[in-house]
Amino acid sequence: MKHLIDIKALSAEKITALFAQAQQFNQTPIKETRKLHQGRSAIALFFENSTRTLTSFQLACQRLGIDITALNIEHSSTQKGETLCDTLLTLNAMQTDLFIVRHQQNNIQQEMSSWLNNETSIINAGDGTNQHPTQGLLDLYTIWQYKQDFSTLKVAIIGDIKHSRVANSLMDGLNTMNVGEISLFAPDELIPSKTKHLKASDMNTCVKDADVVVMLRIQKERLPEDLNVDFAQWHEHYGLTNERLKLAKPEAIVMHPGPMNRGIEISDEVADGSQSVIWQQVRNGVLMRQALIHKILS
Ligand code: CP
Repeated sequence: MKHLIDIKALSAEKITALFAQAQQFNQTPIKETRKLHQGRSAIALFFENSTRTLTSFQLACQRLGIDITALNIEHSSTQKGETLCDTLLTLNAMQTDLFIVRHQQNNIQQEMSSWLNNETSIINAGDGTNQHPTQGLLDLYTIWQYKQDFSTLKVAIIGDIKHSRVANSLMDGLNTMNVGEISLFAPDELIPSKTKHLKASDMNTCVKDADVVVMLRIQKERLPEDLNVDFAQWHEHYGLTNERLKLAKPEAIVMHPGPMNRGIEISDEVADGSQSVIWQQVRNGVLMRQALIHKILS
């Protein structure tokens, strides 16, 4: 594997092998894993804000012995008019092994890989509304840890699905893993018009008998200005509360990619409740990114 730009490039076998590698890293002391890629270097180029993805990539690289630098975009020469292509080629001339890129433009990492003549690896850390493949992988890994067999699962996804690259990568990954059923719920304006998955008529139907409930935040930074959605009423109509969660299977897990808007898409009691695996997702983010980088650089 040279790059990871879209989760659809990964077969079920490759995803399962990444689960196994992540499990192995979880059981291996960091002083051992630090020897694996000593002398390699990575650069993180984040043109959009991040807490989880950037930090977990930095920790994943450090735990593999890779020197990682995060370019501060605000203080970089992109502010003086340097093009993205020249920025990339400049950093590549410093003999980088891996670029980790988050950008607001859909599909930009594919174009960037062609500027590098496919010499240096690129991992997509999120492109516009399109893909967030490492989030998809860590979400699949978390589901697998709790449920093992994807084919029997009902996964409910609720929130701003239309603008969510997290939802796209998760749905693509779940399809690859042959998931039983995906049920979607959002206002009509925030659900993709073309989807092969079931659009539930209301939230209770979506959550009913689910094995996994995935809550998404409203992607306010990507919404058209003229959107006619009453956000003040969001929690009432689209928020996950303990009462609604009771409709899911008793052993259902609750997921959220973060950042959470507590009291809007998810109540405190659910976010901090016994069925929430949100912090486990964050922990798995480091392990899964370690597994992926190890695969790409090996
Ligand atoms: N889930 C996610 O991508 O979070 P960050 O934006 O904090 O990286």
